[in-house]
Amino acid sequence: MKSLEEAKKARINAYTPYSKFKVGAAIELNDGTYIHGANIENAALGLCNCAERSALFSLYSQGYKKQDIKSMTIVADTHDPVSPCGACRQVMSELLPKETKIILANLDGATKTVTKDELLPYAFETYDEE
Ligand code: THU
Repeated sequence: MKSLEEAKKARINAYTPYSKFKVGAAIELNDGTYIHGANIENAALGLCNCAERSALFSLYSQGYKKQDIKSMTIVADTHDPVSPCGACRQVMSELLPKETKIILANLDGATKTVTKDELLPYAFETYDEE
């Protein structure tokens, strides 16, 4: 699957001297472009940034918008498909379109496809743009 290969490529750039746990995220746009994100750690451990947020912040920083997004694939070396942390679920809830296919994966190719509302039902929001 192309999107899983892209997420694996993104994972190569993870900066993880502390946890050694590498995560990759690839967001597929409607025009076929992929935006990559990896987890980036810091000696001040509270400042570590997850792959999911790296990818989404990069996408918006490059001028793309919510409507440009088709799917998001996340991969890590886990037994079951990797499950995003709570902070990333909150950010994904606001920055992804409602019906975006979110593909959770592991390196062996096991996948689970979910929506953002399945990942974070009853999310915190202060306005409803959709
Ligand atoms: N991590 C992610 O990149 N995504 C997640 O959803 C969970 C955790 C990263 C943060 C840290 O660099 C490492 O995995 C171990 O927690």
